[in-house]
Amino acid sequence: QNHYTGLIGAYGDRLPLARNARPISLGEGNTPLIRLENLPGSLMHDVELYVKYEGLNPTGSFKDRGMTVAVTQAVAEGSQAIICASTGNTSASAAAYAARAGIKAFVLIPDGKIAMGKLAQAIMHGAEVLQIRGNFDDGMRIVKEMAEQAPVSLVNSVNPYRLQGQKTAAFEICEALGQAPDYHCLPVGNAGNITAYWMGYSEMALAPGQKGTLACGFCGGDCAYHQGRVAARPVMVGYQASGSAPFLRGGPVTHPETVATAIRIGAPQSWDYALTASRESGGWFDEFTDEAILEAQWLLASREGIFCEPASAVSVAGAMRDIENGRIPPGSRVVCTLTGHGLKDPDVAQRHAEAAVTTVDADSSAVRQAILGKMS
Ligand code: F0G
Repeated sequence: QNHYTGLIGAYGDRLPLARNARPISLGEGNTPLIRLENLPGSLMHDVELYVKYEGLNPTGSFKDRGMTVAVTQAVAEGSQAIICASTGNTSASAAAYAARAGIKAFVLIPDGKIAMGKLAQAIMHGAEVLQIRGNFDDGMRIVKEMAEQAPVSLVNSVNPYRLQGQKTAAFEICEALGQAPDYHCLPVGNAGNITAYWMGYSEMALAPGQKGTLACGFCGGDCAYHQGRVAARPVMVGYQASGSAPFLRGGPVTHPETVATAIRIGAPQSWDYALTASRESGGWFDEFTDEAILEAQWLLASREGIFCEPASAVSVAGAMRDIENGRIPPGSRVVCTLTGHGLKDPDVAQRHAEAAVTTVDADSSAVRQAILGKMS
């Protein structure tokens, strides 16, 4: 076929799935890499800054990349149900892919603190939603036990198939740029995604001889991967919310808090992998206050036309700061992952947006007056 059918269609030969596995796909992946043009900052024009807009995946977050592979594998193994703990996006994605596969999804979400859009998705896709009196880290502990005690497949990112799917974002970025970027900035919560990107970039950077054994299956042979142009791997930079920043504290945070509820996580499951990615790449971790995160979200939406959720914006807050302070040097190519769509969390957006709604009478002179008032 010649139309795009999702990650397994595009990268099946680089995924560890059985050949005859029935792909459970919603056309995920193939998201745009957008160059930013309007952000303020004296050094911003000295770098090439891009965002990988993962909010355009079918359920509005990067989780779909992992879920297509994890659910395909679960179904191939005969599983009748999947389970996850989630701050919201994983549950939305698991629910959708389970619906597609015709199996059951159980999702454990924290008490409150989950964005409205994400909860609506899980419910609409027919998941069994269990709200626990605890946070994400409590949920994670419980679902790992359930995977041992009940006939359910765990689809959190501790499932290696999740990371396999998510590594494809690195492939797409290398194909779009013709090479790996110099720096890759992303939000870090449970630390699966930074791990997956590092896997993906590392696979792209295999010696040319090793590359020939694989075929992309989507590019027709002229992607960066096939032409053997990808030599280097980027520096991996992970950003966290100050109230939920175990990588900055050097260990678990017991009561994580942040407006960026997606990354309200105190005990990341992929701790060791993330540290390895950071160390091997020569990268670092940094943190941002809720105010700084919301400011970056607003800047991206109002100046670039790109609406991401708060957790995603921390990557751009970080890139902007590190470009301005010179830690990311002039001349660099930088990619930030925007992990989820802004519409996931409309409450936070409305509460913090700087542009207000003006109420006027329903007649043209009142509207004209309002327009002229705003233009001046
Ligand atoms: N950004 C968003 C929008 C997320 O939903 C998540 C994780 C992350 C960043 C962090 O990625 O965990 O791989 O380091 N959300 C998970 C969930 C935990 O349950 O939806 P990570």
